[in-house]
Amino acid sequence: MRVLICPDAASAARRTADLLCEHVARRPHAVLGLATGGTMEPVYEILRERIAEGSLDLSSVTTFNLDEYVGLAGDHPQSYRATMERLLFEAAGIGPDRARLPDGAAADPAAEADAYDAAISEAGGIDLQLLGIGSNGHIGFNEPTSSLGSRTRIKTLTRETRDANARFFDEGEEAPRFSITMGIATVLEARSCLLLATGEGKAPAVAAAIEGPLSAACPASALQLHPSATMILDPDAARDLKLRDYYEMVHPAGGEAPL
Ligand code: GLP
Repeated sequence: MRVLICPDAASAARRTADLLCEHVARRPHAVLGLATGGTMEPVYEILRERIAEGSLDLSSVTTFNLDEYVGLAGDHPQSYRATMERLLFEAAGIGPDRARLPDGAAADPAAEADAYDAAISEAGGIDLQLLGIGSNGHIGFNEPTSSLGSRTRIKTLTRETRDANARFFDEGEEAPRFSITMGIATVLEARSCLLLATGEGKAPAVAAAIEGPLSAACPASALQLHPSATMILDPDAARDLKLRDYYEMVHPAGGEAPL
């Protein structure tokens, strides 16, 4: 696992965007796994700027988002579909046929989850998966105790996650209770993973993911099994890491040290 501790949250978002852009420059037809959440918003802002200035072209990529709320149709403003349209798809010119999310309004959500997992395989698998992390260690909506062998399926959200995400919903509107999320095994099949975490609220989950035991109690710890996982952190999110000096020696300021 590569642990990149960047000087601040803005440079961590930039580093994430840079790695994604380098990947797409090498593989214009890449299959990208995308994530929602407040942490990712600055990354998508950078991508939109690069698209506008002509230095990034996402028009040939295929994308699969990690998850969607069950019960929210794509035109609900807080659905992850609508969020991604606003944050990236419109600017990138990626139509719904190649910008994929589970359909939260599907009549049979379990069948939708199975079909979504199959669609990822049919597309050749994910080349680069972006991830955030919940303060309880979740990735996608794989809440603690999710099977490390799980595939895309319906997950009930914890009270903690619903409270954390309530800020995106109007007052009086209840945050959804269920999601369709890629499973942990689905995520681990991506050829590389890039997890971005900023802010001290994420510090305990980040430490558990990187240095804790491999455990379903912290779903992000499953990335310890991945042969190409990069964790991009700001100093606040890195606060609880015991081997922080080591990571900073290997990757000064989150960059690459010459051999
Ligand atoms: C949601 C998403 C996750 C995301 C998490 C953290 O639960 N399903 O993919 O990582 O939120 O979000 P934030 O970045 O807003 O803290």
